[in-house]
Amino acid sequence: MARVAILGATGYTALELLKILARHPDSEITALTTRQDGKPPISSIHPSLTGLVSVCCENLTADQVGQRADIVFCALPHTASMEAVPQLLDAGCRVIDLSADYRLTDPGVYEHWYGHVHTDPTRLVTAVYGLPEIYGSKIPDAVLVANPGCYTSTSILALAPLLAEKLIEPDGIIIDAKSGISGAGRTPKLANLFSECNESVTAYSIGNHRHTPEIEQVLSDVAQSPISVAFNPHLMPMDRGILCSIYPRLKSDKSVSELLAVYRDFYAGQPFMRIVDHIPATKDVAHTNFCDITVRMNRNQLVIFAAIDNLIKGASGVAIQNMNLMLGLDQRTGMLMC
Ligand SMILES: NC(=O)c1ccc[n+]([C@@H]2O[C@H](COP(=O)([O-])OP(=O)(O)OC[C@H]3O[C@@H](n4cnc5c(N)ncnc54)[C@H](OP(=O)(O)O)[C@@H]3O)[C@@H](O)[C@H]2O)c1
Repeated sequence: MARVAILGATGYTALELLKILARHPDSEITALTTRQDGKPPISSIHPSLTGLVSVCCENLTADQVGQRADIVFCALPHTASMEAVPQLLDAGCRVIDLSADYRLTDPGVYEHWYGHVHTDPTRLVTAVYGLPEIYGSKIPDAVLVANPGCYTSTSILALAPLLAEKLIEPDGIIIDAKSGISGAGRTPKLANLFSECNESVTAYSIGNHRHTPEIEQVLSDVAQSPISVAFNPHLMPMDRGILCSIYPRLKSDKSVSELLAVYRDFYAGQPFMRIVDHIPATKDVAHTNFCDITVRMNRNQLVIFAAIDNLIKGASGVAIQNMNLMLGLDQRTGMLMC
């Protein structure tokens, strides 16, 4: 039985981790952290966990967490993670970091996009990028897994098969992405107030969204050549879900059914990848760890559509997939398959 801790247990991704861990047969929750005073029961913070998880949250140091856990999920904002992770690893824990702190391999790129000097740069090259469908063979032995971003997972999973097979051009790829508000976390921000985003759709961070270098880094690795994307995110007035409509330039004369066959081959045996004939919707994957993908030709333009739940396949579900692989378990352990 693996002893599991969550740092930042009061947040949205932590809630989804806890829902899965509550039914996970091979793990036990031994520590939950918050900066709040006292020891609030987790059900007082996430009432949906009442009767399911009875652990209290505590203001623990990383060293104290290290004494209680074998695996630690860091569900903290970036910069807070890279303060805690070195201490957790020194204490002998294996860490799955949900923040962006260990996703980019180049500390200069991190500093450019995140505006902070990385304080633990040597681990950027040893951390394993936690997207099992791409790096599954590296995850079982990893001590530090950099869990992917939500937009990034969707975009990478949608593009990887066609780039690996060199069926699309490496540049001029346009990613039109739409996300629900929970993508920004539970920590209050003005732009995420109900009265700011209800009944409204807007694009944001055009040209400077921090998921851009992460998408390009992984896809360049997949393609074994530099890939560039124009990433255009939009905030949607819904709780959860991501839909990406992606416009690459096709290099081959393959038909839609031949392209779908490429996807089905690439993701053969991957339990959470569904290559579908219909156009995916966020509702089809809400509260699940599935990623639904299809392609269409519109005149001469190839369009790829991909949908996930940002809090599950985009964060906590893939984090549990990673934990399962690290523990030598079936990826589906603890996961709902419908
Ligand atoms: N939301 C998503 O869809 C999503 C998807 C992929 C990845 N992620 C990443 O996953 C991480 C967690 O996201 P989330 O959506 O769960 O965020 P969240 O709902 O805002 O929760 C983060 C938690 O971290 C704690 N915290 C905040 N600032 C802190 C600090 N400076 N030092 C220590 N603890 C701090 C807070 O708990 P207390 O105030 O109780 O201490 C807070 O509840 C983030 O790095 C995020 O970028 C999120």
